[in-house]
Amino acid sequence: MHLGVNIDHVATLRQARYAFSLDAPNCEPDLVAAASACERAGAHGITIHLRADRRHIQDRDVERLRASINTKLNLEMGNTPAILDIALRILPEEVCLVPENRAEITTEGGLDAAGQIKGLTPTVSRLQKAGIRVSLFIEPEPAQLAAARQLGAEMVELHTGAFANALGKARDREVERLVTAATQAHTLGIQVNAGHGINYQNIALIRKIPHLAELNIGHSIVSRALFVGLERATAEMLAAMAGD
Ligand code: PXP
Repeated sequence: MHLGVNIDHVATLRQARYAFSLDAPNCEPDLVAAASACERAGAHGITIHLRADRRHIQDRDVERLRASINTKLNLEMGNTPAILDIALRILPEEVCLVPENRAEITTEGGLDAAGQIKGLTPTVSRLQKAGIRVSLFIEPEPAQLAAARQLGAEMVELHTGAFANALGKARDREVERLVTAATQAHTLGIQVNAGHGINYQNIALIRKIPHLAELNIGHSIVSRALFVGLERATAEMLAAMAGD
């Protein structure tokens, strides 16, 4: 299982102080330094979400990270022409298409791929023609997986938010839903990733899901980094993913 570290929250911290003075000499924390700390610890990729409202990651971050990352860049984005143009210019190794709603605190719910086949088809095809592997961030539901297959996406990222928020029997049901979806995706020949709300505790249950190729984890790693540093926080998550 590979790990992509989502460093959006590092940018959130920087924006809290420097949103209007990104050129200030003391502007911090630096995203390139954050990405390289994750890579030094063994992360397999860096994930960022360039939102239409630019609340955390900025266009210049995407360019600087593209130039400095040694592993791979996974760009999360909404399906809009302006962001698609940026993706086609920057050429991340991977794009994960996500829903985007201005009022949300973070991505809520998966992309309704089944309901948006028409709008997604040209985007997926333009990204793929540019050599970018495409993932769809979807709920673990049969109709969404069928849509991912119809769209020809190389990967899906199963939304683990409902699982992360559930307790007791409800959580067991969410694990079952994820197991079923991962099995279906694998049968369809689609790479299975997962993300949202995964932390150092619930990773033990995530490990029960079959066929998982990659996890994208942000909040818990960046939170732990406040106490132990980003390199160690990333290494600890990698160890937890391996069951150590
Ligand atoms: N994957 C996707 C598609 C996301 O939108 C997010 C949140 O930005 C994550 C993974 C990471 O979620 P978390 O910060 O809860 O680990």
